[in-house]
Amino acid sequence: MSLMCGILATAIFLASCAPKIEEVQSEVLFTQDDHSFAKPAEARVLHSELDLRVDFDRRVLSGTVTHKIKGRGKIILDTKDLKIDKAETSANGQDFKPAQFKLGTADKILGTPLEVSLAEGTGFVRITYETSPSAVALQWLTAKQTAGKVSPYLYTQGEPIYTRTWIPLQDSPGIRITYKARIRTQPNFFAVMSANNDQRTAAPTGDYRFDMTQPVPPYLLALAVGEIQFRMIGGRTGVYTEKAMLDDAAHEFADLDAMVASAEQLYGTYRWDRYDVLVLPPSFPIGGMENPRLTFATPTIIAGDKSLVSLISHELAHSWSGNLVTNATWSDFWLNEGFTVYVERRIQEVLYGKQRSEMEFAIEIGELKEEMAKLPEKDQVLHVDLKGRDPEEGVTLVPYVKGALMLRAIEEEIGRERFDPFVRGYFDHFAFQSITTATFESYLKEKLPNLKLDVKEWIYKPGLPASTPKINSFLLNTVDEEVAKWKKGQALNPKEWVAQQWLHFLRALPETLTAEQMAKLDKDYSFTKSKNSEILDAWLLLAIRHKYAPAQGALEEFLGRVGRQKFIKPLYQEMAKTAEGKTRAKALFAKNKENYHPIAASAIEALLAK
Ligand code: BES
Ligand code: ZN
Repeated sequence: MSLMCGILATAIFLASCAPKIEEVQSEVLFTQDDHSFAKPAEARVLHSELDLRVDFDRRVLSGTVTHKIKGRGKIILDTKDLKIDKAETSANGQDFKPAQFKLGTADKILGTPLEVSLAEGTGFVRITYETSPSAVALQWLTAKQTAGKVSPYLYTQGEPIYTRTWIPLQDSPGIRITYKARIRTQPNFFAVMSANNDQRTAAPTGDYRFDMTQPVPPYLLALAVGEIQFRMIGGRTGVYTEKAMLDDAAHEFADLDAMVASAEQLYGTYRWDRYDVLVLPPSFPIGGMENPRLTFATPTIIAGDKSLVSLISHELAHSWSGNLVTNATWSDFWLNEGFTVYVERRIQEVLYGKQRSEMEFAIEIGELKEEMAKLPEKDQVLHVDLKGRDPEEGVTLVPYVKGALMLRAIEEEIGRERFDPFVRGYFDHFAFQSITTATFESYLKEKLPNLKLDVKEWIYKPGLPASTPKINSFLLNTVDEEVAKWKKGQALNPKEWVAQQWLHFLRALPETLTAEQMAKLDKDYSFTKSKNSEILDAWLLLAIRHKYAPAQGALEEFLGRVGRQKFIKPLYQEMAKTAEGKTRAKALFAKNKENYHPIAASAIEALLAK
């Protein structure tokens, strides 16, 4: 490899050679991925270099991507809603010649395959292209939608199959690439990526270069551009956000360095150099995204009291489960998320104690049971059949919480003294590889041959097996006791309750509440004014259900500001349960949809059309 590396290093744009990538990848047998047109066994991308301009006026990214490739005959890339201007090939990465290319038939979910013919000896393919203003991976925010209100903002969301809407590449989690990027934008804007971000403390220039030397699946390529600033937290951690949110974010995430250290204690060295968090504007459609070195997070976890930071533990955990050991296809998604929820629980336990971690787990299990009851049996299994379906259909709490429960069941059977080294060994063994559920199963059999747990039942049968661990949360039991008393007309005694207890309380209230009861609760505990987004969300749901008028203003404000699907989807859904509510939901959605990410907007549109 060193000879190859030396030759390549002389090429202008390929100065880096990450160690062992090709060696690792050449041993990999690529799994058939139903959600990519790529045929990596014939020709595949090893390294990509982006050179893009960010045009806020036209809402497009334009420029080139140059792929270093291996293979012959032709290479197939994934694209969706991209305008492809030109394809060129080169043997050495310096002299490019026009190449023949062909766009195939568009598929509604997968997009359009781009086939480039490769002359003998081709080592590089360069595509000149432009994104569409409606690219699903991109949210272009107006200045009004930001905290600063002065400048627009852009960010990407790649998982599961959206990277192909901003880069033509082989968009399968079974394929790993290193990447470099040059991003040009307005001089006063700052750009960050899921890469080295060495310019973090320098003044903005509008011209940024990035280098990701560790091979990652394409869904982890990420970019954000806007009036973003950086604040250091610990030696290798920090937070990026708009100026107006910097203090609050730094305060909330003060434990970031300790989090990384405790995860390392459990599962071995953190391999990604820095761990920073980018706090996005409130329209960010999900809670968090584990972009390597730079987690993207919703501002709705900033509660002022660190009560919602388990989301950061979760995204950090992906630095082992997901980013280091990756699901080879979206049917194996539980390998990413189930392991991550398990690791998240362990990090929370070290940092905030067993009681809090068990309480958070118990809440998630309650949510899983509720969701599972509504899912068809075929989606209650860990290894989900997604052929012909949008991989988003596999994103339920099943891979997350049922997956974590299975790992917890193994832990309980063999004890932590054996299970912890197993998990650590698993991360080391499959580091920088993408694996299937079957590979996990054979590794488990090899390392823990005497395991009694029926793993096949967990992975391939619907529902929760009889071997499901019982998670008993003392702190939530207290709440249940108080609710029982409250139902009998006795006064509530919410002594030193933390956010999760209040959340559990609101969810445990009886189906029907009178106007007086709602008013009394609000008067006593100021739910309508809650600064905790989880509590406010649970309260607003009750306010819709019980037509509690004094919270309607807060509901409208929330739906106009927040775009996190976990919150807004259930609120719209609850409104849509009555004819009158549906009319209102449609009116509110029409007013707010410009503020929502395209993914969130289409999800809500679909549920209101039902
Ligand atoms: N990787 C996911 C986000 C994701 C999954 C995006 C599937 C697109 C498709 C991330 O790690 C995640 O799970 N986020 C959760 C929060 C977590 C604490 C459960 C979220 O955003 O709600
Ligand atoms: Zn996750």
